[in-house]
Parts: sequence; structure tokens; C-alpha cells
Amino acid sequence: MEKNYAIKVENLVKHFGKDDTLVEVIDGADFSIEKGELVALVAPSGAGKTTLLMMIGCVEDPSSGTIWLGNEKVYENKWLTKETRKIRREKIGFIFQAHYLIPFLNVIDNVTLVPQTNGVPQKEAESFAMELLEYFDIADKAHNMSSELSGGQNQRVAIARALANKPEIILADEPTAALDNKRSVSVVQMLKKIALDQNVATIMVIHDEAMLPLCDRILKIEDKKVVSEVVSENARMI
Ligand SMILES: Nc1ncnc2c1ncn2[C@@H]1O[C@H](COP(=O)(O)OP(=O)(O)O)[C@@H](O)[C@H]1O
Ligand SMILES: [Mg+2]
Repeated sequence: MEKNYAIKVENLVKHFGKDDTLVEVIDGADFSIEKGELVALVAPSGAGKTTLLMMIGCVEDPSSGTIWLGNEKVYENKWLTKETRKIRREKIGFIFQAHYLIPFLNVIDNVTLVPQTNGVPQKEAESFAMELLEYFDIADKAHNMSSELSGGQNQRVAIARALANKPEIILADEPTAALDNKRSVSVVQMLKKIALDQNVATIMVIHDEAMLPLCDRILKIEDKKVVSEVVSENARMI
């Protein structure tokens, strides 16, 4: 595969159930995402956005097809490793609509949890976590509990946590859904900056069309296929 791709899927198929209960969700997706790209994933509710992200994130089993993450083929009609959890931990940062911070840990312990699980020494993990928190302008809350932070602050911590293991790929499922417009713009701008600065490939499910001009490209799910669209020049000027 070409070296610059962070994600590539070929003929990816996903259905749930069988016979009477068969639900076909994705019927042969082919696309790739380059390093440094921020891609919006747009489709109506129930179209399979979360399912697609979870397959790329090695959480949901595809029905068939091929998935490459960077230079590693991770799935070809079956997972090519028993250690999908390790791939997730090492390569992928997840951001969800709800922040899912651990309530009984303070901010910095939430951010350092995965790197420490990956064997990064505590000091190193903490110093990188502080860098991230500073980058997101939330370092003064490092020793607060998540419950003491606002929604926007918690979402910034959740993005810092997703970056703490230096992922090659960020999968963000409606990361701005719980935020007001101003905070949504700032979250998307941060994801854009991270994509550029750190060469991270990001797929972000988003409903608000106003955010599209900040993205490099749009993926849509139409008739169970994934199609790629450029962001129009008009939209970019908004
Ligand atoms: N575990 C499951 N079992 C059966 N059907 C599922 C399951 N998960 C999702 N689906 C179905 O797959 C389709 C896509 O769901 P989803 O990926 O959550 O859509 P979206 O994120 O675009 O709203 C829906 O029809 C949903 O009902
Ligand atoms: Mg969803």
C-alpha cells in the first residue's frame, strides 16, 4: 500500500443478524485516508457511521473485506492478530460524544492512564500529558476531578486523553454534539491543528454543516456505500 495512507479499506462489508433479522449496513466500502487529513463522516442517523468507525477502530468485527492501518494489514476476512486491543491502544485515539472520563480520577490521571498501561514511565507520561493540557489551555485543571469541569473543558480533556498515546489515527464520533456552537468550532479547529501538526489521520462524525469548511474532505454513506466528496470552495470561505 502507498506509504502515506493511515487508513485504507477495501470491499468492507458489514451486516448484523441473518435471515429474517439481516440488516445490511455497509455493502462494500473502498476508501483511504491520508496522514494529516481531517475527514468529516456525514450520513443520516442509522446509516452506519458508528459501525464504520468501530470497525476501523478494531472494536466491531466486519463481515468481510480488508482494513489497513498504516502499513499493517489488520483485517482480511478475519482479524490478522489476536491482539486487536493492543492495536487500539497503540494506534488509535477515540473521542466520543460523551467524554467518558473516569470520575474518580483527576484530569491528569485520566490522560496518563492509557500511556501508563502501554508501559510509558509515569514521569514521561505526566510530562506529555501536561504538554497536551497546556496546548488545550486546561493545564490549571490538571488536579481537578472531571466532575468539577464544564462540558467543553471535559471534552478538551477527552481529546488530550485520545492523543496521549500518540495515535496515528483519531476516530471521533460526534465529538461536538454536546457542545454549543462556539465550543464546537474550537474542538474542530483543535482536531484540524492536531492533524496538521502531528500528521494524524482523523475521521470525525459530524452533523453540523457549518463545521465542514474546517475539514479537508467529506465521506458520506449513501445506499450502504461510502463516497468521498471534496469540500466546496464556497463552503471553505464561510
Ligand atoms: N449490535 C447491533 N446489532 C444489530 N444491529 C445493529 C447493531 N449495531 C448497529 N446496528 C444497526 O446498524 C445500523 C447502523 O447503526 P450505527 O452505525 O449506529 O448508525 P449511525 O452511527 O450512523 O447512526 C442501524 O440500523 C442499527 O440499528
Ligand atoms: Mg452513531
